[in-house]
Amino acid sequence: MTEKIYIFDTTLRDGEQSPGASMNLYEKLQIAEVLDSMRVDIIEAGFPVASNGDFEAVREVSKNVKNSTIAGLARASLKDIDRAWEAVQHAKSPRIHTFIATSPLHMKYKLKKSEDEVLEAIEKTVSHARNLCDNIEWSCEDGGRSELDFLYKCIELAIKAGASTINIPDTVGYTLPEEFGSIFKNVKNNVVNIDKAILSTHTHNDLGLATANNVAAIKEGARQVECTINGMGERAGNSSLEEIVMTLKVKKDLMPYHTDIKTESIMKASRLVSSITGFPVQPNKAIVGANAFAHEAGIHQDGVLKHRETYEIMRAEDVGWNNNSLVLGKHSGRNAFKSRLSELGIEFETEDELNDAFSRFKTLADKKHDIFDEDLQALVSEAQSEDTEIIQLVSLKVSAESGKVNTADVTLSINGNEHSASANTSGAVDATFSAILSLVDIEPKLQLYSVSNVTQGTDSLGEVNVRLEHEGKIVNGQGVDTDIITSSAKAYVHALNKVMANVERAHPQI
Ligand code: KIV
Ligand code: ZN
Repeated sequence: MTEKIYIFDTTLRDGEQSPGASMNLYEKLQIAEVLDSMRVDIIEAGFPVASNGDFEAVREVSKNVKNSTIAGLARASLKDIDRAWEAVQHAKSPRIHTFIATSPLHMKYKLKKSEDEVLEAIEKTVSHARNLCDNIEWSCEDGGRSELDFLYKCIELAIKAGASTINIPDTVGYTLPEEFGSIFKNVKNNVVNIDKAILSTHTHNDLGLATANNVAAIKEGARQVECTINGMGERAGNSSLEEIVMTLKVKKDLMPYHTDIKTESIMKASRLVSSITGFPVQPNKAIVGANAFAHEAGIHQDGVLKHRETYEIMRAEDVGWNNNSLVLGKHSGRNAFKSRLSELGIEFETEDELNDAFSRFKTLADKKHDIFDEDLQALVSEAQSEDTEIIQLVSLKVSAESGKVNTADVTLSINGNEHSASANTSGAVDATFSAILSLVDIEPKLQLYSVSNVTQGTDSLGEVNVRLEHEGKIVNGQGVDTDIITSSAKAYVHALNKVMANVERAHPQI
């Protein structure tokens, strides 16, 4: 049996630090459920002290997740640690993750602390955390630029004080793979009690080296890897879960390690995170990009048809790509619908929810001949997000003619009462948004508007992502429909609901 590499996913914490990627409680729960079901070992659910919204999200994820360990992040402060414990203590397997910067640059300019003061803080905070929880991770922020002799002292002290996982981050994505690997090798050789802890690696992608750096760290002794779905994360992002997991799987001849990740769930997680955050996946992104398994050159296509392995190093099915297999159509019944959704891992809690989803399916089947798995997933996730909305789109009529003014007539239900408005501008989407906005009391700024197709063909569902900013709060909304103006209206209304929801949400500041 090969050695296990623990997968620590931080999409809900470092991933959420991608500017504009804030998620609400329901969305975090959805992502956590998928991560748990794909057997992520540790889910970092957030930074509880950052805001009440973050605290609540970490607490609810802790209560709901069935198998994964749940980590909450805390700076080297007793208040942060107490708040993290308050949130994660509900988990079956809770972890407190506490950190302090150890590089000369961070200690001098950010912390304004001497080496001795940092050592004192490590002793005090790690032992405080260990008194609350028996699973403690300690990180040396900016570890990649820290001086080795000082790093050894910090790590030895953190382990003595009770940390059982030691994470070394390349916080600013600055190191080269050999350089980062040698930090792990030196730590293994020079920290006397290192055998009492698991070494962990956490990398950022500022130079595009995040996954290469994680691989180098594993080769030199790291047994936990921190990563995010689609490589979301602060600035250029973190190392992506799909890249590291598939590298270990494909290169097992050279690296005798395994993870427990159910790789067939990778696409599902990737799509969910992309749709919730409004961050599209670039087509040429490794593993999860639309072109990752597409062969354009004739010579490649010919080779793949003759023998797949000529140009493919892994199977698309192994990461959850399906061939847009036709699953249902206009004449499919309720049972076929229910059982296909069940195969996709989607269950309904009540008969009403099933009936609602089935009636949406019938409406879609009237407009679209072939219904694919992706259509079903989009349809169900739209229905779930509409459940709690105070503003709902009742009807939309758009008259558009090229070169002329376009008119949108919109009716919304707001708190159960219907209100209508019209607007005229040169574009149909713009007119629709203006009409909607005239019915609400706020004026959020549009930060992002993007359209993508859910499957192939001109009758595909079009998915629209809208990002709005209002008084410092950033939200993302999604809408799907076969008509992209309607998708746009749904996405805008979805985002407005989030702006108006009374949920405190501040971008975590570390
Ligand atoms: O990049 C980093 O240093 C971090 C730590 C908080 C682990 O995200
Ligand atoms: Zn980070």
